[in-house]
Amino acid sequence: MAEILGLDFIHPLKLFDIAKKEKRLLYTSAPMVRYSKLAFRQTVYAYGTDLCWTPMILAKEFNRNHFARDSDFTISTNGPQPPTIVQFGANVPQELARASSLVAPFCSGVDLNCGCPQSWACSETLGAALMEKRELVRDMVVETREQLRRDGWGVDKEKDIDNPKGRSVSVKIRVHKDLRKTMDFITTVLGPDQDRHIDWLTIHPRTRSTPSSTPINLEALEILTSTFGDRVPILLSGDVFALGTLPFTTPLLTPTPTFTSTTSTTVSTTTTSKPPNPPDIRTLTPLPKLAGLMSARALLANPALYAGHDACPWSAVETFLTNTARAPLPFKLVQHHLSEMCGPGMGADKRALLTRGERAGLMACGNMLDLVDFLEERRGLRRGGGGTG
Ligand SMILES: Cc1cc2nc3c(=O)[nH]c(=O)nc-3n(C[C@H](O)[C@H](O)[C@H](O)COP(=O)(O)O)c2cc1C
Repeated sequence: MAEILGLDFIHPLKLFDIAKKEKRLLYTSAPMVRYSKLAFRQTVYAYGTDLCWTPMILAKEFNRNHFARDSDFTISTNGPQPPTIVQFGANVPQELARASSLVAPFCSGVDLNCGCPQSWACSETLGAALMEKRELVRDMVVETREQLRRDGWGVDKEKDIDNPKGRSVSVKIRVHKDLRKTMDFITTVLGPDQDRHIDWLTIHPRTRSTPSSTPINLEALEILTSTFGDRVPILLSGDVFALGTLPFTTPLLTPTPTFTSTTSTTVSTTTTSKPPNPPDIRTLTPLPKLAGLMSARALLANPALYAGHDACPWSAVETFLTNTARAPLPFKLVQHHLSEMCGPGMGADKRALLTRGERAGLMACGNMLDLVDFLEERRGLRRGGGGTG
């Protein structure tokens, strides 16, 4: 089927390699239930994201129900097809393996969610509850890799990097309060050095009960990346808000040019609209073994983050609208995305495309035509210098 559709996939480990050769971290967009759908993935891809995650899909439903398959996972057959990782929620090896087998022709790899802290997920031993089940997680990734191999996919990690049939199997985790448990977890899931069970690991350095308003645990990340970073590529998920103000240093994070010239078309939500100062390098944690970044909330507000924009540019709004025309989303979801993109972002730069009042106007639009007219009018006012609204 993939051949019929002319789909071609680059191995994700090749993307890690390319980023490293370019002396930068790999840029990825996070799995986000409801939000990281095709039109959004295409938008962040247009602005420098290397690898995009789907929202978490429940493997069991996906395997049993073709409506779940149709609604949960969409790819593009006409238009940009970003390198995509399909994330599953699962707690049975055969379920994860079966679901992975179904999506493998249409994606670059599969990922297991071991981080979702929501009570419904944990009560079903999904998401973060799996952080207490390291042998089960190992068995799930091993079974999945074996199933994909039986299906004819290349699952030998670096050895399959140039194989068009190469596919990855990865895991996204949180940390434990007692970091020794996280070390044991990773050691078990990783398996032997000469044939590790996962292609890479994404770490969200918060515990299951840490609120997302609490800064990530950099000390834990430092320990985990220095212990395991030579054995497996590691991505950081959490508080990736702006490339210029990350609270750590790495040789792969050379200062990127930032685009702050959107001032004429943005409004400030604070009294000062000056771009933030870069952090003092002496106070930053060194993370030399980190391979890449994963952003969720900041990309939602500013899909152009990795292209060096500190605040969302109008062009990203336009790109997103064009993509939703090709890969439609429910109207309310489009509206919510646009409200995020037109508001102040997660970084220190709080300029926004629309004022709070204007965003209320955007949310009051009842259909796509009104919404597009509304945005064009507001943008026209900015261009013509007709006030900040
Ligand atoms: C709306 C939303 C939905 C999310 N859905 C998922 C998900 O499906 N799977 C997952 O592993 N993490 C999910 N997360 C967690 C993020 O992937 C990420 O780990 C977390 O938000 C921290 O990153 P951030 O500081 O960049 O937001 C979600 C987060 C948000 C805000």
